[in-house]
Amino acid sequence: MTTPQQLHIPVLLADTLAVLSPSRGERYLDLTAGYGGHASPIIERIGGANHAVLCDRDDYAIAHLAQLQERGARLIRADYLSAVQQLASEGDKFDMILMDLGVSSPQLDQAERGFAFSHSGPLDMRMDRASRLTAAQVVNHYSESELVRLLTDYGEIHSRLAKALAGAICHRHRRQPFQTTLELAEVVRRRVGELDGGKYHRVHPATQVFQAIRIEVNDELNQLRRTLPRLAELLNSGGRLAVITFHSLEDRIVKQFMDDQSDGLDAPYSLLTGKPILGSINDAFQPRARSAKLRAVCKK
Ligand SMILES: C[S@@+](CC[C@H](N)C(=O)[O-])C[C@H]1O[C@@H](n2cnc3c(N)ncnc32)[C@H](O)[C@@H]1O
Repeated sequence: MTTPQQLHIPVLLADTLAVLSPSRGERYLDLTAGYGGHASPIIERIGGANHAVLCDRDDYAIAHLAQLQERGARLIRADYLSAVQQLASEGDKFDMILMDLGVSSPQLDQAERGFAFSHSGPLDMRMDRASRLTAAQVVNHYSESELVRLLTDYGEIHSRLAKALAGAICHRHRRQPFQTTLELAEVVRRRVGELDGGKYHRVHPATQVFQAIRIEVNDELNQLRRTLPRLAELLNSGGRLAVITFHSLEDRIVKQFMDDQSDGLDAPYSLLTGKPILGSINDAFQPRARSAKLRAVCKK
């Protein structure tokens, strides 16, 4: 049987343990529990899964967390904003909260999830497979101006290129709707090649396009913006909040929130990480670590 650790290698594990500093009997909330890569060693240190609540919106991840549920952990299959609202309404309190944002390795590796263009899959990209909006609906039904907005805001693509790419995507979907990740990646690669004369790109030109669509499909930035301010009410005094981000849009939101909320005597938090702790660019086991940033605060 594949262990969760083989499916997804946790990023910045030692540093996360250092900032969260779990001790026996403490309560742990993991809002993006994935395959328990962070949760399992934390549960060892707090001395029991019954002190842990594990949330994920992906049914595949939740199925793999069943072994921690059998040991007493509470599982919540929901987006983390809904989970936090539910826990707050129950008056639950924790000593540590972790958010390890973005996608898991299985989401990227399984072609049928449609997150990657390294292999052909349906244009899906939903973390929660029961949710409504898919990547296919975005690329085949959004207007050109909606696509420009998405590519500039979520893909961080400059506006001239975003307009050219949105034009190419609409031109193609009017003739023949996109079905697969490779079809989309190819249209983007071709249009970028026409504009820059086929220059070599270290990173595939479709990377930022896929990031933008994934953020839209999963409403990632709104979820994050709305969830962070709700977490103080779930933390005990002295409780630690750690967030791992994977791109600058997420990191900007987390940095601003943590800086604002730890500024001044009356602020609810104090900073545990002045500068973010960076993932290793040489992590052969987990390539996602290259862009990872860990930030943490402590509730006063
Ligand atoms: C990077 S993985 C977490 C991996 C986990 N820390 C581990 O080491 O096994 C991110 C997980 O968060 C989940 N996720 C992302 N955004 C979410 C959201 N808004 N609500 C709930 N789960 C979310 C994804 O489905 C994915 O399983």
